[in-house]
Amino acid sequence: MKITINGKICEAAEGQTVLDVARANGFYIPTLCYLSGLTPTGACRICVVEVEGMRNLVASCSAPATEGMVVRTDTERVLAARRFIVELLVSCHPLDCMTCEKTGDCTLQNLAYELGVTASTMVGEKYDYPVDYSNPFIVRDYNKCILCLKCVRVCNEIQGIEAIKTIQRGFDTKVATAYDTPLQESNCVFCGQCVQACPVGALTERKAKGLGRAWETRKVRTTCPYCGVGCQLELHLKGEQIVKITAVEDGAPNKGRLCVKGRFGYDFIYSEDRLTTPLIRENGSFREASWNEALDLVANKFKQIIAESGPDAIAGVSCARSINEDSYQMQKLFRAVIGTNNIDHCART
Ligand code: FES
Repeated sequence: MKITINGKICEAAEGQTVLDVARANGFYIPTLCYLSGLTPTGACRICVVEVEGMRNLVASCSAPATEGMVVRTDTERVLAARRFIVELLVSCHPLDCMTCEKTGDCTLQNLAYELGVTASTMVGEKYDYPVDYSNPFIVRDYNKCILCLKCVRVCNEIQGIEAIKTIQRGFDTKVATAYDTPLQESNCVFCGQCVQACPVGALTERKAKGLGRAWETRKVRTTCPYCGVGCQLELHLKGEQIVKITAVEDGAPNKGRLCVKGRFGYDFIYSEDRLTTPLIRENGSFREASWNEALDLVANKFKQIIAESGPDAIAGVSCARSINEDSYQMQKLFRAVIGTNNIDHCART
């Protein structure tokens, strides 16, 4: 198919939306409720565009591209509609951006800046929900929720957990667990996918609170050390300290997803109980040793066992946290150097 966007003729494939084609061709269209891989709901309407021959503006994230479509993404009518949507959203928003954890990384804030919305022209009711600090991972402040429902959809469609849905109707509509209980009393597994999807400060990482603004941190891509899947992470570092961890959105194998350990289980890095040097047990207690001394000791013990009982008296178990190359080297050491096939991997059980 061919469609025209802002005067440019663009190729479009069956099943692509106007937003897909526009982005593939370098045209900017803002989004709030859209998230790649989720069913588009067209809930926020910030992505509206003008389509020739259509009376109303069209939500580009859910409008299929059709042959011969003529689209404009940046007319005054489109920008006025987007401005009005942001004004509606901020009319019941706390606007505490000075202290909000999301400042600098907030889509609503960025849109208000981009569209020149300094305050809402509408004055009305505001939410007055208590902020939920009751679990160790996620702060839930539904006074800031814009009901884009990305959190609900990632929980249901991506993670398959279905811990949250919307409750009530109209202005009182709210994202909640069944019977509005705390997350820890629901079937939430604290993967934090909802936090990563939230475009505003309604869901934030509890452990990141006060540790640094988005512009103060740098992202370092790495591989999760917890299991053999090899999920791709981004460490958000302020100096050398981890402020939070997010999943790499477009990287295999996890494609933007993480489990509770990968996302929130990094405190051990700073544990004072962590071993930083080899320890050798002597007379019932441990003493610090150099790596050379510790490895020599292990090698000599292996030699002693082999001499007394043969190589099959030794077995090796590799760790699921090790990378493939380390596991390969481990089996090579046991087979070629020690002379036994007694090898196993802890993830096999
Ligand atoms: Fe299209 Fe929300 S991003 S309607």
